[in-house]
Amino acid sequence: SLQNVPLAPPDAILNLSALYKADTDPHKINLGVGAYRDNDGKPWILPVVKKAEELILHDPNVDHEYLPTAGLQSFTDASAKLIFGADSPAIKEKRVGTFQTISGTGACRIAADFLARHRKAPIYISNPSWANHQAIFTDAGLEIKYYQYWDPQTRGLAFASLIETFKSAPEGSIILLHPCAHNPTGVDPTFEQWKIIADVLKSKNHFPFFDCAYQGFASGDLDRDAQAVRYFVEQGFEMLVTQSFAKNMGLYGERCGALNVVAKTEESAKKAVSQWCKISRAAYSTAPSYGARIASTVLNNPELYQQWTEELKTMSYRIINMRDELFKHLQELGTPGTWNHVVDQIGMFSYTGLNLNQVNTLKEKFHVYLTDNGRISMAGLNTGNVRKFAEAVDWVVRN
Ligand code: LMR
Repeated sequence: SLQNVPLAPPDAILNLSALYKADTDPHKINLGVGAYRDNDGKPWILPVVKKAEELILHDPNVDHEYLPTAGLQSFTDASAKLIFGADSPAIKEKRVGTFQTISGTGACRIAADFLARHRKAPIYISNPSWANHQAIFTDAGLEIKYYQYWDPQTRGLAFASLIETFKSAPEGSIILLHPCAHNPTGVDPTFEQWKIIADVLKSKNHFPFFDCAYQGFASGDLDRDAQAVRYFVEQGFEMLVTQSFAKNMGLYGERCGALNVVAKTEESAKKAVSQWCKISRAAYSTAPSYGARIASTVLNNPELYQQWTEELKTMSYRIINMRDELFKHLQELGTPGTWNHVVDQIGMFSYTGLNLNQVNTLKEKFHVYLTDNGRISMAGLNTGNVRKFAEAVDWVVRN
């Protein structure tokens, strides 16, 4: 009977928002879920998104029909160009297949189901990684293995260890990579390190799978954040690449994203996309249209696109500024330990190195919400709360 169904635990990341909401302390700080906030701590609707919505509202050709199973083509075409480059030879050779997904999570899940059926190999994910990666790949039935990514000593990339793992992994393994703004650590390989990773993956015939949730949001430069992906394409890999427009367009609730395959031939790319259509049809039929229309309008209209690149800088520079501020306050307070990693890391998150006890104290004593692994969403900091947060960190480190 239904009585025997056990209660599932709440999601480690999403539940923080609920706890924060329920907290009545006026000085509470939400550094949990990775969602951009402006300097007043408010969600930011990108002005360019508002403009796109206006255009859509008055477009006589817009209706509420189902999208084709592979998605809105003006969106998927533009999305592929965004990640691979407008002049990408792989796109010109039609070796790229792009499929609209329910944001990045949906892209990961379609990819996972596809890989479980058509590539019997373990998937290597970084330790640590976004917590949902493990849930998605487990539910899809993939065998999960880990490569060490974070070196607690240097609070940086465990590069030697990661390379060792890729070298010793069974030939043809699937390797999940975060191309920019690694979640949760905020630590990315340098371009030189990406080249070495590519060499090792090639020598072992591994299959790269890039989960790209932060293009343009990490550095403020769309091309720079796509560098690793484009380099791997140049090296002739067959691979998968997900995209999300949650962070970089602020389209969190619209669930707008894409899954791309780069194949050796046009025929293989088509076959992969046909499988994704089959998987999605049996799961949820077709993707939602509204977010894709917004993204398509921004991506295909040169004026709006230009405006978007500016708004990306507004978001990413504010975050970089908050890193500097946090670092400065910790220095001023003389907080024990080294804190350079706060400014060296990139993107939405900083992996502070705070332990579970310290995290719990931050929550209970200071009403600061962050994930158990010590990750903070930098976007939750602003000029009004950064000092308070630094003082709270200082207290938990000393006590
Ligand atoms: C996060 O890691 O906080 C974001 O990617 C949001 C999510 O879905 O978990």
